[in-house]
Amino acid sequence: MKALYFNDFGDNSVLKYGDINSPQINANQILVKTQFIGLNFADIYRRRGTYHIEKHQPYINGYEALGEVVAIGNHVNEVKLKDKVFFVDVPFANAEYVSVPSENAIRVPENLDSKVVASVGLQGLTADFLAHDLGKNMPGGNVFIHGISGGVGQILSQILTSDGMNVYGSTSTSAKQNLALNQGAVKVFLRTTPWSQSLQGKFDTIYDGVGKTLEQSLSLATNKGKVVFYGMAGGNPPKIDPLKLLVQSKSILTGDLWDYLNSADERKKRSQRLFSYFQKGKIRVSEPTIFPLSEGQKAYEYLESGKSAGKILLRP
Ligand SMILES: NC(=O)c1ccc[n+]([C@@H]2O[C@H](COP(=O)([O-])OP(=O)(O)OC[C@H]3O[C@@H](n4cnc5c(N)ncnc54)[C@H](OP(=O)(O)O)[C@@H]3O)[C@@H](O)[C@H]2O)c1
Repeated sequence: MKALYFNDFGDNSVLKYGDINSPQINANQILVKTQFIGLNFADIYRRRGTYHIEKHQPYINGYEALGEVVAIGNHVNEVKLKDKVFFVDVPFANAEYVSVPSENAIRVPENLDSKVVASVGLQGLTADFLAHDLGKNMPGGNVFIHGISGGVGQILSQILTSDGMNVYGSTSTSAKQNLALNQGAVKVFLRTTPWSQSLQGKFDTIYDGVGKTLEQSLSLATNKGKVVFYGMAGGNPPKIDPLKLLVQSKSILTGDLWDYLNSADERKKRSQRLFSYFQKGKIRVSEPTIFPLSEGQKAYEYLESGKSAGKILLRP
């Protein structure tokens, strides 16, 4: 099969496209022929060698894709041949075929377009746990999202707006600023201009997936407020002294999606909650940018450039 792979950690130039052996399935697995493969920031950390990655010779990146079931193991009952499924926590996804433990496969809802589901899978389930498990915001509360027009940012902002919060955020360009405003944000600041001074202590919750902005996020929080730190798209966070947090009753919460997707039931319950926002028309996402799998290197370069607003997909 064709796959995007690499032998050594490094920058984007280590990525190669070519033929490698197709995966085998065991009795509890299904074989998925991928139709759309989702790119995520964590794949960049993995390729650089700074984040956990499954051992494989050569390495194959990616944990998220949507496709058709083309073979099933003897003990699999809940999925059938030709079912359309997606997954967000299975390794070796940057390839034409992926062997998937059946409990990790989530069925694609019939009334949603496959491309939309592929565009929101991992980022949408992340936005869902950030909003509902970590944020637990009260309607009428003020929240702030760094990188509000990124993949996670766009969905998170619309979930929170739909749940009754006043959503503010920051972004890098006026096109992305308008996108966030059209998706319901109250106010969006350009991070290229000084904006944060007058907003110190104003927000109940700050969502920070940029990382290097962590000090700024803490200054934006009210006393008793919280920062939800969930990624470092802009660089590693600085070290924080917990005593400084204590005297203002501020907290930092963190979380990794995979600790919340720890059973087939959780995957089903959480994806249904996420998709209900789409089915009710509460969330619209921008069109994904699609690259052929053979141009995976270009796709990762685009992701790393920070220019995209929304999902980047590979098509085998
Ligand atoms: N904890 C989890 O389980 C989990 C799961 C999925 C993703 N994540 C994390 O969530 C974050 C967002 O992921 P994503 O998939 O939404 O990626 P994305 O679509 O590429 O969005 C990332 C956003 O970060 C902002 N950004 C990039 N470089 C920056 C810089 N130098 N300074 C400030 N902002 C910068 C950009 O926003 P602007 O250009 O608009 O400023 C960009 O839109 C990443 O850190 C990722 O690792 C965490």
